Amino acid sequence: MPTGSKVEEVKAELAKVVSQCKTENELMSRVVKLLHERMLKYNWVGFYMLENEAASQSAVLVLGPFEGAMTPHTRIPLNQGICGAAASTGQTVVVDDVHADPRYLACSLETKSEIVVPIFVNGKVAGELDIDSHFPAAFALEDRHLVEFCANLVGERIEKARHGQ
Ligand code: SME
Repeated sequence: MPTGSKVEEVKAELAKVVSQCKTENELMSRVVKLLHERMLKYNWVGFYMLENEAASQSAVLVLGPFEGAMTPHTRIPLNQGICGAAASTGQTVVVDDVHADPRYLACSLETKSEIVVPIFVNGKVAGELDIDSHFPAAFALEDRHLVEFCANLVGERIEKARHGQ
């Protein structure tokens, strides 16, 4: 199956998942499971959620639901790692070769490329979705769109929960 139609299929499954999940935590757990199972080059898939406001000194990214091997990085300050870069700038970061990026915090020796997409809640970064691949340059434009789609689903769900909807 061409990757494009796989991405469309996974997006359709995600839309179903959203309607089935009652809490944001359940949604995050289902999203990481689905991406990890269906997207064969997504070897580690996990959320990091921001503890304290991005602008505050004590802001730190805390590991949330994930699929893949346990990572030593369960708490990441905003000035560290590719994860810190995405959260502090509010921009998606795609790294084709993690070993050529001085910001990279190693999680698995097998990781070759990584994508990190911020999650926005009411216009502010609230966390991020991080994916590692054992393949170099695994994240093309359509992958970026898929991961951004997932990050938006979670951001919207948190926004709704905060407004008591
Ligand atoms: N590689 C990330 C750290 C998290 S692990 O990949 C799960 C980084 O450089 O921020």
